[in-house]
Amino acid sequence: MDSIRIKGGKPLNGKIEISGAKNSALPLMVASLLTEDTLTLSNLPHVADISTLITLLCHHGAIAVMNGESANGGGCDGRSLSINAKNITNTEAPYDIVRKMRAGALVMGPLLARIGKARVSLPGGCAIGTRPMNLHISALEEMGAKITITGGYMEAEAPDGLTGADIRFETVSVGATENLLMAASLAKGTTVLENAAKEPEITDLVHLLRAMGADITGEGTSRLVINGVDRLHGTSYRVMPDRIETGTYAIAAVITGGKIELTNTHASLIRSVLDALEEAGADIEETENGFIISRDGPTVHGVDIMTLPYPGYPTDMQAQFMALMTLADGAAMITETIFENRFMHVPELARLGANITVHGHSALVRGVKRLVGAPVMATDLRASVSLVLAGLAAEGETIINRVYHLDRGYERLEEKLAACGADIERIHTS
Ligand code: EPZ
Repeated sequence: MDSIRIKGGKPLNGKIEISGAKNSALPLMVASLLTEDTLTLSNLPHVADISTLITLLCHHGAIAVMNGESANGGGCDGRSLSINAKNITNTEAPYDIVRKMRAGALVMGPLLARIGKARVSLPGGCAIGTRPMNLHISALEEMGAKITITGGYMEAEAPDGLTGADIRFETVSVGATENLLMAASLAKGTTVLENAAKEPEITDLVHLLRAMGADITGEGTSRLVINGVDRLHGTSYRVMPDRIETGTYAIAAVITGGKIELTNTHASLIRSVLDALEEAGADIEETENGFIISRDGPTVHGVDIMTLPYPGYPTDMQAQFMALMTLADGAAMITETIFENRFMHVPELARLGANITVHGHSALVRGVKRLVGAPVMATDLRASVSLVLAGLAAEGETIINRVYHLDRGYERLEEKLAACGADIERIHTS
């Protein structure tokens, strides 16, 4: 298993081009199941979750073709992927794929809407929480699907198609909103989704579905209205920039006391994160296609954050902010309200010398003067990258094990950081 070695303590200076958003690309790819035509997505990130989803879509009978590098030859525009799901030959999403990547369960809504049946493995819990599927299931049932759980699978049927319904989610869920948006696009009649997620990835999905011929209004608000149509057609669409990658590299600049220009992104995508970073002592200057971020003093200040659905502070940026707060000149209270078990990075940050006490859903971080490198490992993507950030600021050598978590969601992480002066390398072990 590969690991990453970092010799920390160097300020990072330079430019980083942000990739397409993994968490947008995944549902956009699933939307290919809604049409017989070809869907072409550009600015696709080169990360492992994308390959896993391609495997699943091909398992359903889709044909997927990667179209090489961008026309300008820059290589960073991302590959474009064409998917044609004219012939859906298999409606099962197997455990082996869905357990690795929960986004696989998003195929349920589109398969039900287009084919009238789906057999989708329950994803199961994961390192950050139990992550049930109840909101997806009950909302699809409200649209007329019959769903039973047998042998770890959701067996869903809608032989007469799905019918529009008024659905109110009891909790804001990104995945359930995406699943229902796709299902409702091909349902009979009007579906209203209340308490829907407002994340930019939802807006991206609405824009794609609209380009495919769907009739949807309300993106960016908690009320989405979908008038079902008989068929959707193919289109070409560019995936939005990855806001979590953007925020992660913004913190890399601040934690190391450097200055990084982030391009191919927008500050507006992560306003809540940038507000917290400014309060902590970052300087941010917006540019035409991104922003420049640096630290304005020798240390950062303690800032409390609480994770919330968008436009609140994102849970996917909680671990990275905690890494920054370990070196604050005061204390910070970090409260996680989205997932019940998303502090797995705390004991690993402690191995680098951080002073953190967890009380239920909150972690009290008392800033220390310095971190010192050590071998660490983490159990999920964002926890792993928080250790990379801490390692960049720590004195001496940090080895981060279980790099496959990072490979699920960060494209060319070592290369991007090394280009800004980080002493970082991947160690290949058999
Ligand atoms: C998406 O997961 C993201 N994944 C996650 O990013 C992100 O952390 C999360 O949204 C919240 O922003 C993708 O987009 C692929 P949810 P999702 O449904 O859709 C509860 C990363 O690091 N819930 O919005 O699965 C759930 O348990 C990943 O890139 C139910 O109770 O998250 C959680 O507490 C990790 N029942 C809350 O809702 C349900 O049926 C929000 O989860 C569904 C969800």
